[in-house]
Amino acid sequence: MLRVVLVLLVFCVLLIRQANSHEESGEWSCESDSEIRVQAEYGPGLITLDGHADDWKDMDGFEFSLLPALDPDAENEYRGGKMTVKALHDGRDVFFMVQVDGDYAYSKGISGKNCVTTINAHSVALMFQIGEDATYHSMGGCKEGFDSCTNKTCKGHEVDILHFSIGNAIPGRLYGGNPIDNRVGNGGDRFGHLVDLYAWNPHCRYLDGIGSSANDSSGQNDWKGAWWHSSFNVHSGFVEEDSPYASDGQKGTFYFEFSRPLRTMDRLQQDVQFTIGGSSKMSVAFWYPVDGIPWHGSGHYSVSCDWVPLDISLGSSVLTMARPRSSVSAASVFALLLSVISLCASVFIGYWVVKPQTVQFTPMENL
Ligand SMILES: *[C@@H]1O[C@H](CO)[C@@H](O)[C@H](O)[C@H]1NC(C)=O
Ligand SMILES: *[C@@H]1O[C@H](CO)[C@@H](O)[C@H](O)[C@H]1NC(C)=O
Repeated sequence: MLRVVLVLLVFCVLLIRQANSHEESGEWSCESDSEIRVQAEYGPGLITLDGHADDWKDMDGFEFSLLPALDPDAENEYRGGKMTVKALHDGRDVFFMVQVDGDYAYSKGISGKNCVTTINAHSVALMFQIGEDATYHSMGGCKEGFDSCTNKTCKGHEVDILHFSIGNAIPGRLYGGNPIDNRVGNGGDRFGHLVDLYAWNPHCRYLDGIGSSANDSSGQNDWKGAWWHSSFNVHSGFVEEDSPYASDGQKGTFYFEFSRPLRTMDRLQQDVQFTIGGSSKMSVAFWYPVDGIPWHGSGHYSVSCDWVPLDISLGSSVLTMARPRSSVSAASVFALLLSVISLCASVFIGYWVVKPQTVQFTPMENL
C-alpha cells in the first residue's frame, strides 16, 4: 500500500483517491443504447479553441443523460441537466465540444510540490479505446493488479485518457501539451492540469511516457483545451487575479473544448490514432463538487455504460455537394474569360497586321 501511495503521489492526490476508491460491488451489467454515435464531420477553419461555443452552434451534437459511472441507475442521474458532445475534424486535428448544464462553482486548486489537488473543481475526461481488447468497463479491463500490470501482461487493454480539471485553469486560456512538460517526455500539464494519460485498468493508469517499470522519454501531451461558463460576461481575457471569475451559483452551462492531431508520434501504444473515414470508441466522464464537497475519483458521471462509437467522417459531407457546382461555374467563367482574351488578341493582331499597309508611302527624298 505504501508503494502505491508513494508512486501515485507524484501524479496527484486525485489519482490516489481514484485508485483507492475504485472498488465495486456486485455484477456489472450494461444495456447501452446502440443508436448513440458521435459524428466528427469534416469542416476546416470553423473552430477556434477558446472554450466558447458560438462556433459550434450550427453543428449537431449528441445529448446524453449523465449516470453514475459505477452504478448507472437512472434514479441517480445528474440533476444539473444533460451533457452534449460535439465533434469535428479539419483533416489534421479533431475537435471536441463537451457542454454540460450546471450552476457556476469554482474553487482554485491548491498547488503543492509536483502536485495540484484539483478535486474540488469541475472536471471532465475523454476516454478512447486503443487496444482491441480494451473494454469501457474498468478502463481497459486488464485483470492484473497494480504490481503486475505492464505493457506485456496487459497488452491489448490500453485506453487513452484526457483529464481536464479546471481548478488551476483560467477560463478561455489554452492548456494541455506545452513545451516544458513535453521536453520532460510525459503527458503532464503543470499549468492547467489538462493531462494525457493511458491506462489498462483503474489501478494502472499513468501519464503518457511514464510506465509501471520504466519511463520513456518519447511521451507527449498531445491535447490542448480550454473551458468557459455561460455566466461570464468578460470576453477580452481573464487573468488569474480575476478568480473566481463570476459569482457562485449562477445558472448556466460549462463548456470544455479540446483538440488533438488525428495522428500522434506515439510509439508506445499510449495514444489512440484516428483515421479519416474510420471509427473509434470513446466515452466522456464528468466530475463536479456537490455543495463545495470535493468529488472523489470513482464518483463520476458518464455518458454511457459502454463505448460510444466515434466516426471521423471523410471530407465529403460538406464538400461533395458544393464542389461540382462551384467547379463547373469556375471553369465556365475561366473559359469565357479565355475566349474574351483571345477575341481581343485576334482583333488587336488583325489591326496590327493591317495597320502598316495603310501608312502612306513617303519617298526617301522627301525626308
Ligand atoms: C518515472 O517518472 C516518474 C515521474 O517523473 C518518477 O517518479 C519515476 O521514478 C520514474 N520511474 C522510473 C522507473 O524511472
Ligand atoms: C514496454 O515498455 C518499455 C518501456 O517503455 C519498452 O522498453 C518496451 O519495449 C515495451 N514493451 C512492449 C512489448 O511494448
